[in-house]
Amino acid sequence: MMKSRTLRIALTVAAAAVLAGCSSSAATPQKVYTNKDMTVGFIQTGSESGWRAANTSSFKETAAADGITLKFYDSQNKIENQITAFTGFVQDPAVNVIVLAAVGTTGYDEVLKAAKAANKVVVIEDRRIEADSSLYYTYIGSDFNKEGHKSAAAMCDLLKGKATANIIELGGDQAASASIDRHKGFAEALGDCTTTKMTVLDYQNAPGWDPVQGKQIMEGFLKKYPGKIDGVFGHNDEQAIAGIQATEAAGLKAGTGGVVFVGVDATANGFKYLINGKLGADIECNPLLAPQVFKAALDGLNGVTGQSNWVPSQEGEFFAAQGAAPLQAILDTRKY
Ligand code: AHR
Repeated sequence: MMKSRTLRIALTVAAAAVLAGCSSSAATPQKVYTNKDMTVGFIQTGSESGWRAANTSSFKETAAADGITLKFYDSQNKIENQITAFTGFVQDPAVNVIVLAAVGTTGYDEVLKAAKAANKVVVIEDRRIEADSSLYYTYIGSDFNKEGHKSAAAMCDLLKGKATANIIELGGDQAASASIDRHKGFAEALGDCTTTKMTVLDYQNAPGWDPVQGKQIMEGFLKKYPGKIDGVFGHNDEQAIAGIQATEAAGLKAGTGGVVFVGVDATANGFKYLINGKLGADIECNPLLAPQVFKAALDGLNGVTGQSNWVPSQEGEFFAAQGAAPLQAILDTRKY
Protein backbone atom coordinates (compact mmCIF):
# COMPACT_ATOMS: atom_id res chain seq x y z
CA MET A 1 0.00 0.00 0.00
CA MET A 2 2.72 2.49 1.11
CA LYS A 3 4.68 1.79 -2.06
CA SER A 4 1.85 2.74 -4.52
CA ARG A 5 0.86 5.73 -2.35
CA THR A 6 4.47 7.08 -2.35
CA LEU A 7 4.56 6.49 -6.10
CA ARG A 8 1.28 8.39 -6.56
CA ILE A 9 2.62 11.34 -4.48
CA ALA A 10 5.95 11.26 -6.40
CA LEU A 11 4.01 11.36 -9.70
CA THR A 12 1.91 14.26 -8.43
CA VAL A 13 5.07 16.17 -7.52
CA ALA A 14 6.74 15.33 -10.84
CA ALA A 15 3.64 16.34 -12.81
CA ALA A 16 3.52 19.65 -10.90
CA ALA A 17 7.17 20.24 -11.78
CA VAL A 18 6.51 19.51 -15.48
CA LEU A 19 3.38 21.63 -15.47
CA ALA A 20 5.36 24.47 -13.93
CA GLY A 21 7.00 24.39 -17.33
CA CYS A 22 10.29 24.37 -15.61
CA SER A 23 12.51 25.25 -18.54
CA SER A 24 15.65 24.29 -16.82
CA SER A 25 15.88 20.55 -16.07
CA ALA A 26 17.79 21.67 -12.93
CA ALA A 27 14.53 22.28 -10.94
CA THR A 28 15.01 20.62 -7.59
CA PRO A 29 12.46 17.84 -7.24
CA GLN A 30 10.13 18.52 -4.33
CA LYS A 31 10.81 16.43 -1.24
CA VAL A 32 8.49 13.48 -0.73
CA TYR A 33 7.93 13.18 3.01
CA THR A 34 7.62 9.84 4.72
CA ASN A 35 6.80 8.92 8.32
CA LYS A 36 10.42 9.22 9.44
CA ASP A 37 10.41 12.87 8.32
CA MET A 38 7.49 13.71 10.61
CA THR A 39 8.04 15.35 14.00
CA VAL A 40 4.63 15.75 15.56
CA GLY A 41 3.84 18.07 18.45
CA PHE A 42 0.74 16.45 20.00
CA ILE A 43 -1.30 18.60 22.39
CA GLN A 44 -3.54 16.22 24.36
CA THR A 45 -6.42 17.44 26.56
CA GLY A 46 -5.22 15.62 29.65
CA SER A 47 -5.94 12.22 31.21
CA GLU A 48 -9.57 12.65 32.28
CA SER A 49 -11.00 9.28 31.24
CA GLY A 50 -10.47 5.72 30.04
CA TRP A 51 -11.26 7.02 26.57
CA ARG A 52 -8.51 9.62 26.84
CA ALA A 53 -5.96 7.03 27.94
CA ALA A 54 -6.84 4.89 24.88
CA ASN A 55 -6.52 7.93 22.61
CA THR A 56 -3.09 8.78 24.02
CA SER A 57 -1.94 5.16 23.64
CA SER A 58 -3.14 5.14 20.04
CA PHE A 59 -0.77 8.06 19.29
CA LYS A 60 2.21 6.81 21.27
CA GLU A 61 1.97 3.24 19.96
CA THR A 62 1.32 4.19 16.32
CA ALA A 63 4.15 6.74 16.31
CA ALA A 64 6.57 4.18 17.73
CA ALA A 65 5.43 1.53 15.25
CA ASP A 66 5.63 3.86 12.23
CA GLY A 67 8.91 5.58 13.13
CA ILE A 68 7.26 8.96 13.72
CA THR A 69 8.86 11.35 16.25
CA LEU A 70 6.17 12.36 18.76
CA LYS A 71 6.46 15.27 21.22
CA PHE A 72 3.59 14.65 23.63
CA TYR A 73 2.06 17.43 25.76
CA ASP A 74 -0.55 16.83 28.51
CA SER A 75 -2.60 20.02 28.88
CA GLN A 76 -4.11 19.05 32.26
CA ASN A 77 -7.47 20.06 30.70
CA LYS A 78 -6.51 23.74 30.68
CA ILE A 79 -6.94 25.82 27.49
CA GLU A 80 -4.20 28.24 28.56
CA ASN A 81 -1.75 25.34 28.71
CA GLN A 82 -2.76 24.34 25.20
CA ILE A 83 -2.06 27.85 23.85
CA THR A 84 1.37 27.88 25.51
CA ALA A 85 2.25 24.44 24.14
CA PHE A 86 0.94 25.32 20.67
CA THR A 87 3.13 28.45 20.59
CA GLY A 88 6.09 26.34 21.68
CA PHE A 89 5.55 23.86 18.85
CA VAL A 90 5.14 26.68 16.31
CA GLN A 91 8.54 28.04 17.40
CA ASP A 92 10.19 24.59 17.46
CA PRO A 93 12.11 24.19 14.15
CA ALA A 94 12.09 20.40 14.48
CA VAL A 95 8.28 20.20 14.59
CA ASN A 96 6.56 20.10 11.18
CA VAL A 97 3.16 18.79 12.30
CA ILE A 98 0.95 19.93 15.21
CA VAL A 99 -1.98 17.79 16.38
CA LEU A 100 -4.54 19.33 18.73
CA ALA A 101 -7.16 17.60 20.90
CA ALA A 102 -8.95 20.71 22.04
CA VAL A 103 -10.12 21.23 25.62
CA GLY A 104 -12.45 24.05 24.48
CA THR A 105 -13.95 25.25 21.20
CA THR A 106 -12.62 28.82 20.90
CA GLY A 107 -9.43 30.80 21.51
CA TYR A 108 -7.17 28.97 19.05
CA ASP A 109 -7.29 31.35 16.07
CA GLU A 110 -4.06 33.24 16.81
CA VAL A 111 -1.92 30.14 17.30
CA LEU A 112 -3.49 28.51 14.24
CA LYS A 113 -2.59 31.57 12.16
CA ALA A 114 0.97 31.50 13.57
CA ALA A 115 1.29 27.82 12.65
CA LYS A 116 0.08 28.50 9.12
CA ALA A 117 2.60 31.34 8.74
CA ALA A 118 5.32 28.96 9.95
CA ASN A 119 4.26 26.26 7.45
CA LYS A 120 3.32 23.75 10.13
CA VAL A 121 0.69 21.21 9.14
CA VAL A 122 -2.08 21.30 11.77
CA VAL A 123 -4.53 18.43 12.26
CA ILE A 124 -7.39 18.75 14.74
CA GLU A 125 -8.20 15.39 16.33
CA ASP A 126 -11.14 14.19 18.41
CA ARG A 127 -12.72 17.52 19.40
CA ARG A 128 -14.36 20.02 17.00
CA ILE A 129 -13.28 23.68 17.37
CA GLU A 130 -14.85 26.97 16.27
CA ALA A 131 -12.19 28.10 13.78
CA ASP A 132 -12.16 28.67 10.02
CA SER A 133 -11.21 25.37 8.36
CA SER A 134 -8.62 27.20 6.23
CA LEU A 135 -6.55 27.48 9.43
CA TYR A 136 -5.93 23.71 9.68
CA TYR A 137 -5.38 20.82 7.27
CA THR A 138 -8.29 18.63 8.46
CA TYR A 139 -10.30 17.54 11.50
CA ILE A 140 -10.65 13.85 12.38
CA GLY A 141 -13.14 13.11 15.10
CA SER A 142 -16.57 11.91 16.17
CA ASP A 143 -20.00 13.27 15.34
CA PHE A 144 -20.84 14.12 18.96
CA ASN A 145 -24.26 15.48 17.99
CA LYS A 146 -25.11 12.13 16.43
CA GLU A 147 -23.92 10.41 19.62
CA GLY A 148 -26.46 12.57 21.46
CA HIS A 149 -29.19 11.43 19.07
CA LYS A 150 -28.18 7.79 19.50
CA SER A 151 -28.24 8.25 23.30
CA ALA A 152 -31.80 9.61 23.19
CA ALA A 153 -32.94 6.70 21.00
CA ALA A 154 -31.33 4.22 23.41
CA MET A 155 -32.95 5.96 26.40
CA CYS A 156 -36.33 5.79 24.65
CA ASP A 157 -35.86 2.07 24.16
CA LEU A 158 -34.89 1.47 27.80
CA LEU A 159 -37.91 3.43 29.07
CA LYS A 160 -40.40 1.53 26.92
CA GLY A 161 -43.61 0.94 28.89
CA LYS A 162 -43.50 4.28 30.70
CA ALA A 163 -45.90 6.93 29.39
CA THR A 164 -43.71 9.73 30.78
CA ALA A 165 -40.18 9.72 32.18
CA ASN A 166 -37.83 12.15 33.94
CA ILE A 167 -34.18 12.18 32.92
CA ILE A 168 -31.07 13.55 34.57
CA GLU A 169 -28.11 14.57 32.37
CA LEU A 170 -24.58 14.31 33.80
CA GLY A 171 -22.46 16.41 31.49
CA GLY A 172 -18.76 16.47 30.80
CA ASP A 173 -16.70 19.65 30.83
CA GLN A 174 -18.91 22.52 29.62
CA ALA A 175 -16.17 23.94 27.38
CA ALA A 176 -15.71 20.71 25.42
CA SER A 177 -17.38 20.24 22.01
CA ALA A 178 -17.98 16.60 22.98
CA SER A 179 -20.23 17.69 25.84
CA ILE A 180 -21.81 20.69 24.09
CA ASP A 181 -22.77 18.64 21.01
CA ARG A 182 -23.94 15.51 22.88
CA HIS A 183 -26.19 17.72 25.00
CA LYS A 184 -27.59 19.42 21.89
CA GLY A 185 -28.07 16.13 20.03
CA PHE A 186 -29.83 14.52 23.00
CA ALA A 187 -32.21 17.48 23.36
CA GLU A 188 -32.92 17.49 19.61
CA ALA A 189 -33.89 13.80 19.60
CA LEU A 190 -35.94 13.62 22.81
CA GLY A 191 -39.13 14.38 20.91
CA ASP A 192 -38.51 11.51 18.45
CA CYS A 193 -39.48 9.00 21.13
CA THR A 194 -43.07 7.98 20.33
CA THR A 195 -43.50 5.52 23.22
CA THR A 196 -42.45 7.70 26.19
CA LYS A 197 -42.66 11.44 26.78
CA MET A 198 -39.10 12.04 28.01
CA THR A 199 -38.25 15.23 29.94
CA VAL A 200 -34.79 16.33 31.09
CA LEU A 201 -35.42 17.19 34.72
CA ASP A 202 -31.97 18.65 35.30
CA TYR A 203 -28.51 18.89 33.77
CA GLN A 204 -25.09 19.77 35.21
CA ASN A 205 -21.53 19.58 33.90
CA ALA A 206 -18.68 17.97 35.81
CA PRO A 207 -15.65 20.29 35.40
CA GLY A 208 -12.78 18.51 33.63
CA TRP A 209 -15.05 15.45 33.23
CA ASP A 210 -14.24 14.64 36.89
CA PRO A 211 -16.22 11.52 37.96
CA VAL A 212 -15.89 12.43 41.66
CA GLN A 213 -17.76 15.66 41.01
CA GLY A 214 -20.13 13.74 38.73
CA LYS A 215 -21.06 11.49 41.66
CA GLN A 216 -21.60 14.48 43.94
CA ILE A 217 -23.82 16.10 41.31
CA MET A 218 -25.91 12.91 41.05
CA GLU A 219 -26.14 12.69 44.88
CA GLY A 220 -27.51 16.23 44.83
CA PHE A 221 -30.11 15.37 42.17
CA LEU A 222 -31.22 12.26 44.07
CA LYS A 223 -31.91 14.47 47.12
CA LYS A 224 -33.53 17.24 45.02
CA TYR A 225 -35.81 14.83 43.07
CA PRO A 226 -36.58 11.93 45.45
CA GLY A 227 -38.32 9.05 43.61
CA LYS A 228 -38.71 11.13 40.44
CA ILE A 229 -35.68 10.04 38.36
CA ASP A 230 -36.33 7.38 35.70
CA GLY A 231 -33.23 7.69 33.53
CA VAL A 232 -29.71 9.14 33.51
CA PHE A 233 -27.69 10.19 30.46
CA GLY A 234 -23.96 10.37 31.22
CA HIS A 235 -21.83 12.21 28.64
CA ASN A 236 -19.13 9.57 29.02
CA ASP A 237 -18.70 6.21 30.76
CA GLU A 238 -17.19 7.76 33.88
CA GLN A 239 -20.18 10.10 34.35
CA ALA A 240 -22.72 7.30 33.77
CA ILE A 241 -20.88 5.00 36.21
CA ALA A 242 -20.65 7.82 38.78
CA GLY A 243 -24.45 8.15 38.43
CA ILE A 244 -24.91 4.40 38.94
CA GLN A 245 -22.71 4.42 42.07
CA ALA A 246 -24.59 7.36 43.60
CA THR A 247 -27.94 5.75 42.78
CA GLU A 248 -26.98 2.45 44.41
CA ALA A 249 -25.48 4.27 47.42
CA ALA A 250 -28.91 5.90 47.84
CA GLY A 251 -30.43 2.39 48.05
CA LEU A 252 -32.00 2.49 44.58
CA LYS A 253 -31.67 -0.05 41.76
CA ALA A 254 -29.61 0.76 38.69
CA GLY A 255 -30.73 -1.03 35.52
CA THR A 256 -33.90 -2.75 34.35
CA GLY A 257 -36.75 -2.25 36.85
CA GLY A 258 -34.90 0.69 38.43
CA VAL A 259 -33.21 3.84 37.15
CA VAL A 260 -31.89 3.24 33.62
CA PHE A 261 -28.52 4.55 32.42
CA VAL A 262 -27.04 5.49 29.05
CA GLY A 263 -23.34 6.32 28.61
CA VAL A 264 -20.98 7.28 25.80
CA ASP A 265 -17.50 5.95 24.90
CA ALA A 266 -17.94 2.16 25.26
CA THR A 267 -14.62 1.68 27.02
CA ALA A 268 -13.76 -1.55 28.85
CA ASN A 269 -15.18 -0.04 32.04
CA GLY A 270 -18.41 0.81 30.26
CA PHE A 271 -18.61 -2.76 28.98
CA LYS A 272 -18.22 -4.05 32.53
CA TYR A 273 -21.39 -2.17 33.51
CA LEU A 274 -23.21 -3.28 30.36
CA ILE A 275 -22.35 -6.89 31.22
CA ASN A 276 -23.63 -6.54 34.84
CA GLY A 277 -26.76 -4.90 33.43
CA LYS A 278 -26.51 -1.63 35.38
CA LEU A 279 -25.67 0.36 32.24
CA GLY A 280 -28.43 -0.16 29.67
CA ALA A 281 -26.67 1.27 26.62
CA ASP A 282 -23.21 2.57 25.70
CA ILE A 283 -22.73 4.70 22.58
CA GLU A 284 -19.27 4.18 21.10
CA CYS A 285 -16.81 7.04 20.61
CA ASN A 286 -13.72 5.79 18.80
CA PRO A 287 -10.38 6.80 20.44
CA LEU A 288 -8.09 4.93 18.01
CA LEU A 289 -7.58 7.90 15.70
CA ALA A 290 -3.77 8.07 15.36
CA PRO A 291 -3.35 6.10 12.09
CA GLN A 292 -5.84 8.36 10.29
CA VAL A 293 -4.35 11.51 11.83
CA PHE A 294 -0.77 10.63 10.88
CA LYS A 295 -1.83 9.68 7.34
CA ALA A 296 -3.57 13.03 6.94
CA ALA A 297 -0.55 14.87 8.36
CA LEU A 298 1.74 13.17 5.86
CA ASP A 299 -0.60 14.13 3.04
CA GLY A 300 -0.49 17.68 4.32
CA LEU A 301 3.32 17.71 4.34
CA ASN A 302 3.30 16.40 0.77
CA GLY A 303 0.94 19.11 -0.39
CA VAL A 304 -1.98 16.80 -1.11
CA THR A 305 -5.05 19.01 -1.62
CA GLY A 306 -8.79 18.38 -1.84
CA GLN A 307 -9.01 16.72 1.61
CA SER A 308 -12.35 17.13 3.36
CA ASN A 309 -12.15 19.40 6.40
CA TRP A 310 -13.89 16.78 8.59
CA VAL A 311 -13.41 13.00 8.62
CA PRO A 312 -16.11 11.61 10.99
CA SER A 313 -15.12 8.50 12.99
CA GLN A 314 -16.80 5.13 12.42
CA GLU A 315 -18.71 4.16 15.59
CA GLY A 316 -21.25 1.65 16.92
CA GLU A 317 -23.42 1.22 20.01
CA PHE A 318 -23.86 -1.56 22.57
CA PHE A 319 -26.77 -2.65 24.77
CA ALA A 320 -27.03 -4.69 27.98
CA ALA A 321 -29.87 -6.50 26.20
CA GLN A 322 -27.25 -8.10 23.93
CA GLY A 323 -26.47 -10.36 26.89
CA ALA A 324 -23.43 -10.84 29.13
CA ALA A 325 -21.69 -13.57 27.13
CA PRO A 326 -21.95 -11.90 23.68
CA LEU A 327 -20.82 -8.58 25.21
CA GLN A 328 -17.89 -10.29 26.93
CA ALA A 329 -16.90 -11.87 23.61
CA ILE A 330 -16.93 -8.41 21.98
CA LEU A 331 -14.99 -6.90 24.86
CA ASP A 332 -12.30 -9.58 24.52
CA THR A 333 -11.60 -8.36 20.99
CA ARG A 334 -11.34 -4.66 21.84
CA LYS A 335 -8.17 -2.57 22.43
CA TYR A 336 -9.80 -0.23 25.01
O1 AHR B 1 -13.76 13.91 23.20
C1 AHR B 1 -14.12 12.67 23.58
C2 AHR B 1 -14.46 12.67 25.04
O2 AHR B 1 -13.39 13.13 25.79
C3 AHR B 1 -14.82 11.32 25.60
O3 AHR B 1 -16.13 10.97 25.36
C4 AHR B 1 -14.54 11.54 27.04
O4 AHR B 1 -14.43 10.38 27.77
C5 AHR B 1 -13.25 12.29 26.94
O5 AHR B 1 -12.98 13.00 28.04
